[in-house]
Amino acid sequence: MKRQLKRSKKVKGIITVPGDKSIAQRAALFSILSSGPITVTNFPDGADCQNSLNAAEQLGVKIEQVEGRLKLRPPENNTLPRQATVDCGNSGTTARLLSGIAAGSNIELTLIGDESLSLRPMKRVIEPLTEMGAEFFCENGSLPLKIRGKKLLPFEYKLPVASAQVKSALLLAGLASHCSVVIREDSFTRDHTERMLAEIGEGIETRKIKAVPVEHPDDPRKKKMVMPEPFKYEAKLSAQAAVKGGEINIPGDISTASFFMTAAAITQGTVTIKNVGLNPTRTAFIDHLKIIGCEVKISDKETISGEPRGTVTVTGLKLKPRKISGDTTVGLIDEIPLVAILASFTEGTTVIRDAAELKVKESNRLEAIHHNLNLTGAKCGLLDDGLAIQGGRELSGADFVGFGDHRIVMAFSITALSLAGPSTIDDDSPAAVSCPGFYDILESIIR
Ligand code: S3P
Repeated sequence: MKRQLKRSKKVKGIITVPGDKSIAQRAALFSILSSGPITVTNFPDGADCQNSLNAAEQLGVKIEQVEGRLKLRPPENNTLPRQATVDCGNSGTTARLLSGIAAGSNIELTLIGDESLSLRPMKRVIEPLTEMGAEFFCENGSLPLKIRGKKLLPFEYKLPVASAQVKSALLLAGLASHCSVVIREDSFTRDHTERMLAEIGEGIETRKIKAVPVEHPDDPRKKKMVMPEPFKYEAKLSAQAAVKGGEINIPGDISTASFFMTAAAITQGTVTIKNVGLNPTRTAFIDHLKIIGCEVKISDKETISGEPRGTVTVTGLKLKPRKISGDTTVGLIDEIPLVAILASFTEGTTVIRDAAELKVKESNRLEAIHHNLNLTGAKCGLLDDGLAIQGGRELSGADFVGFGDHRIVMAFSITALSLAGPSTIDDDSPAAVSCPGFYDILESIIR
């Protein structure tokens, strides 16, 4: 539905956001391979998470609501159906993680998805999983995709693209087929799979590689820092690794919370979000807000189910531009639309590089941001692998296009808060992919 977007003076309020999508999807998909039940608190109602649950159910998981929590009972005798077709909807995480599970299981699984998901690259999981021994049938490296699972071979792999979905698919393949898997990364993608396995299972070890001082070749009095390994992170799954089951309590989704933090930043208001996930692989946006000049306070920190969480309060102050590339871009992967929007309200030029992955998200997000920001009168240039944004002038209201992408729809609904005229979004329904209550939460902080 087309929606008139609201403007606001300084936003203000204390809110919570739905449970973390990445953690919830893993909980749902882990239950397919678990030996015991998994009980989940704060499972979110977004469409992507429901798609992961439906997939688990189709593969034999029994789902019950028990006192407001979800109880996921693994398939009887841990046996999957011989054949199944699963509709992953809009959800890349469901499609990619399920590919890993199917590759290492005794199943012939067909994956289908909506128009957007059917355009997204699957070769990144097909290639390594084929090397492990599974068989894949598809036309252009995307959905629809048929997977014939096999007994897989032990595997060591350095990720060619920074992707937690690929890392997780390969770890789940190893879990399903009881074979060892070693994944190495040049950056730090989100590590919810590793944490969840350590929490409700066994057989995973991870290490971060730190640079060490060595003698400088030109001057023995000096030291230089070198990496002792040609990678920065390693996750090792043993052949005995297993999901046993247990309790998972999901913190609020920091990527959803980031929309409301941005609302505070661009209206110079204050928003407090309680019970937000603070896993260090996901907090780059909080660091970004601090670096560009916002006040950020974190309290009530605790770790539950292996995932840190806390209360985050953001107050908007005068913003500064920043250049973003490399590992920083990886850490901000789902928040780049918000980084771009903040830049358009900032005097000076913000440059975002190493963000080519955004071209293959739920939409081509670089083009979507470029299109919408230019409608407001902000100066936004499209680069090969990113964006350059010159902000700081008064921006006008616009008829935004959501490109069917939940994060674009929500990001530009937030932008409208501070524009100098009325704005609309062509279709607000994609917000339900990750946050069905998005406009109600927003309404509660508008002043
Ligand atoms: C996700 C990983 C990221 C992220 C996506 C969810 C996950 O994708 O953009 O929204 O749950 O593993 P990539 O790992 O493909 O970058």
